[in-house]
Amino acid sequence: MKNDTAYIRELASLAPIIPVLVVEDVAHAIPLAEALVRGGLPVLEVTLRTDAALDVMTAMASVKGARVGAGTLVTAEDVAAAKAAGATFGVSPGSPAALIDACLEAGLPLLPGAATATEVMTLQARGFEVLKFFPAEGAGGIKTLKGLGGPLPGISFCPTGGVTPQNAPDYLALSNVVCAGGSWIAPSDLVKAGKWYQIEERARQAAALPR
Ligand code: 3PG
Repeated sequence: MKNDTAYIRELASLAPIIPVLVVEDVAHAIPLAEALVRGGLPVLEVTLRTDAALDVMTAMASVKGARVGAGTLVTAEDVAAAKAAGATFGVSPGSPAALIDACLEAGLPLLPGAATATEVMTLQARGFEVLKFFPAEGAGGIKTLKGLGGPLPGISFCPTGGVTPQNAPDYLALSNVVCAGGSWIAPSDLVKAGKWYQIEERARQAAALPR
């Protein structure tokens, strides 16, 4: 089965930032997703790092306008669980062959992780054109993205990991960056405290970033 680059490109076009979400309590899912969508960030990455994550995805998928995906996909089992929970796309920090196979077989569009030229080329050979550059700052940040852009101009990136409101504009200005991911829009303390208006404001500012 082919990968679904068109869907990933569509997601990247919807907003400059994909909020990376770690949600412990399913009761927070709907108000959090509503705040993010109201703020202009409809593409939501729910990380599979909490016991509630799958239920959170299912709840968020009912929010009008939200495009809910599963982050931190590591195993083939994660892919099946995310799909069953209603995720419409997946995000992974890396790109092991078994995970790629599982996403292709399940028909789950994937934003696979890459940080080196070999990883990028391996994914390109399998038809992937939009990749998560992870961990963005740890892997050399803007310099590395510029370096990869020379020999591999057909690849677009969503840098994630160390992206902040301060450095996001510089990432988004790169010709091979289509969007960026980050956890600063909905940090755990604001989510746990139910500060939906503050999260909405953060989303609004992120959604207004130029690119
Ligand atoms: C993650 O998967 O945790 C993302 O890389 C988020 O990174 P950040 O917390 O640095 O935004």
